[in-house]
Amino acid sequence: MVLKKLSLTNFRNYKKVDFEFAKITLIVGPNTSGKSNLIESISFLSTGKSIRAEKDSEVIKFGENLIRIKGLITAKEEDKELEIVFRELNGGLLQKKYSLNRVSKRRGDFAGNFLSVLFSPEDLDIIIDSPFLRRRFLDQVLEQTNREYRFSLTAYHKGLRQRNALLEKIREGIQTEKQLEYWDNLLIENGEIITKRREEFLDFINLETKDIFDFVAFYDKSVISKARLEQYKEAELGAGVTLVGPHRDDFSLSMFDDLKRTTHDIRLYGSRGQQRLAILQLKLLQLIFIEKTLGFRPVLLLDDIFSELDSEHIKLITEIIGKQQTIITTTHKEFLPKAILKEMKLIKLD
Ligand SMILES: Nc1ncnc2c1ncn2[C@@H]1O[C@H](COP(=O)(O)OP(=O)(O)OP(=O)(O)O)[C@@H](O)[C@H]1O
Ligand SMILES: [Mg+2]
Repeated sequence: MVLKKLSLTNFRNYKKVDFEFAKITLIVGPNTSGKSNLIESISFLSTGKSIRAEKDSEVIKFGENLIRIKGLITAKEEDKELEIVFRELNGGLLQKKYSLNRVSKRRGDFAGNFLSVLFSPEDLDIIIDSPFLRRRFLDQVLEQTNREYRFSLTAYHKGLRQRNALLEKIREGIQTEKQLEYWDNLLIENGEIITKRREEFLDFINLETKDIFDFVAFYDKSVISKARLEQYKEAELGAGVTLVGPHRDDFSLSMFDDLKRTTHDIRLYGSRGQQRLAILQLKLLQLIFIEKTLGFRPVLLLDDIFSELDSEHIKLITEIIGKQQTIITTTHKEFLPKAILKEMKLIKLD
């Protein structure tokens, strides 16, 4: 998997810009020069959505109403042109268009063509912060590798909004409980697929060897089923929100003690160094999972990670850089080991 060219129009701080990438590309630029925005735009091509924006419209350059991201990729010796256009319509509505080789696609069919794994210092939050970030990580992996997952996730979230609105109306006495059945079935059907795929991925993680840092993943799943919805019905009607289902999932990573007899949650007991090793290991497992599922290595995106890492980490990452196309950003190229600098194409941002 190779990203050859990228054109951005009105994406965040970029008015109009074209990039050409090599096997290893180093993007050097000071703070606020647009390094993370560039990396975000590349990962946008993988799933058709932002890895960090809370609202899709956030990525549109201030004062503009249209973005375009265009990427030329090569996968299995075949060139493909991917394009995303978001247009803000009157009333704030966002029109989203995706195309592959100039043929319009649904997001579910567009995503999964370009595969990437992003690693940035903020990824530490996946381990230490809220379950939302861990679910988003799972989605980021599985939306790239599984078409059924993409469609189920979209259907599930739409259904969830509708069901929550309906619960609120039932609570207010405007609608009856009978109308819940349709949404219950839709959530169960799609939720089961999401749970199953997440479980498969976490099982994969547990079976794979971990050279950097050993841990075991525990899936804290919130199963959605007729029985569970029945069990929580009273509470849901009281709260006006859906209380069970994969939107409430979480997972934890636990490290072993020296004798491998007990495990301890890395979020609670890991030192900062151990947490850093664990996230690096997790990202590497994401890369291997994509490779084993789809047959080729995704593009590796490293956003500004070298300034924060100690020499041990830098060595570990340096060993991976040459194994697939890699795009790296940094404020100072001196942060990178001299040996690999020679092999890189350098792009400077102002
Ligand atoms: N929608 C937007 N429209 C215009 N500018 C934006 C938008 N979103 C973010 N920006 C700006 O883009 C600039 C570049 O941000 P970015 O995060 O890419 O910088 P960076 O090079 O990664 O910096 P750092 O080294 O501090 O991480 C920032 O000044 C930010 O405020
Ligand atoms: Mg940045």
